Amino acid sequence: MPSLASQVASVPPSGIRRIHEIAVQLDDVLGLAIGEPDVAVAPHVLAAGSAAWLADDTNYTGNGGLPEFRQAVREKLRERNGIDVDLERIWATTGATQALHLAMSLTLAPGDEILLPDPGYTTFPMNARMLHAEPVPYVLAVERGFLPDVDELERLVTDRTRVLMINSPSNPLGAVFPREVLATLLDFATRHDLWVISDEVYESFTYGRTHTSVAALDRHDRVFSVFSVSKTYALTGARVGYLVTPPAFAAVLRTYQEAIVSCVNTPAQRAAIAAIQGDQSHVEVAAEHYRGNLDAATALLDERGIRYLPPTGAFYLWIDVSHASDGDVAAWAESFLLTQRVSVAPGSAFGRSGEGWIRICAAASREVLLEGLRRLPAPTP
Ligand SMILES: Cc1ncc(COP(=O)(O)O)c(C=O)c1O
Repeated sequence: MPSLASQVASVPPSGIRRIHEIAVQLDDVLGLAIGEPDVAVAPHVLAAGSAAWLADDTNYTGNGGLPEFRQAVREKLRERNGIDVDLERIWATTGATQALHLAMSLTLAPGDEILLPDPGYTTFPMNARMLHAEPVPYVLAVERGFLPDVDELERLVTDRTRVLMINSPSNPLGAVFPREVLATLLDFATRHDLWVISDEVYESFTYGRTHTSVAALDRHDRVFSVFSVSKTYALTGARVGYLVTPPAFAAVLRTYQEAIVSCVNTPAQRAAIAAIQGDQSHVEVAAEHYRGNLDAATALLDERGIRYLPPTGAFYLWIDVSHASDGDVAAWAESFLLTQRVSVAPGSAFGRSGEGWIRICAAASREVLLEGLRRLPAPTP
């Protein structure tokens, strides 16, 4: 049999999948491992998607998406993100997942390096490896309030570094980077002439901190912005996201999109248009639900003396279990699942600095969330 491409073996598997595979075989598990919104999709969004199917609105669209989709996104970007772009800079993608892959495909050649947050979202290093590029982690450390340290970035940058990845609000940390921090990161990228890929899929869920789009601060056309309807509108299975590029990439993107997906599912784009343009009260209700859950969860953890990062965004809680995990949080999470019947994501799935921590998803019923947290081991006083 011929061998697979040489880079395949270097693509890291997802460290959450193992937990998920065990959890689906058990029938009494409190599921806190997966980042899936638990709120209902707004009826007007479902109606728009259904109407498209029923009207046989099922042809290919342009590679960048329906003109109405791009227009809806353009207005949203101007009003909510402070980003003013023409339609040719907006590309409908198959979820943010494909937008990330596209942005990295355009900026990384074999052997190039990309600076990635650690802990950070699992597909960032997977994509880099698939493209024969080198993921270089920059640590978001507890000692620095989980914020990036520019001195460390200066030490990590080399003449092969091409991209700085930023993810705020962060998965897995549930943290929002302040505007000044983002400005500092952009200065760093400008100094070293790097591209920036800014993953903002959790933009709609912030608590006590304002979300800033990095592209709104960009004066040098170096930012690729990645957005999605998945988390904002609880539409994870619709698979619609969008990539906002610097100017003058339309021709190359048309080719890349053509070769990878041609275009995004047409009825799903119709649902996304309704979501982006329509009444946003479902998003506010979801944000209140997540905020309420996070407040209740942190109150319980405080009571139990378990350390965590106070959440400012997304719907995750980053919790310290190093008192119990004995240096191997992946093994601990597996045995916690088997013995306590609670699935949590081991922090090490998000990078080396996640060792000793877990991520739990607060997009769950309040009862399930609190019962899951009650079963966590507390440190001995
Ligand atoms: C940080 C981050 N980026 C991107 C994605 C992918 O989102 P989508 O469903 O739009 O592909 C996720 C999903 O969990 C995520 O957490």
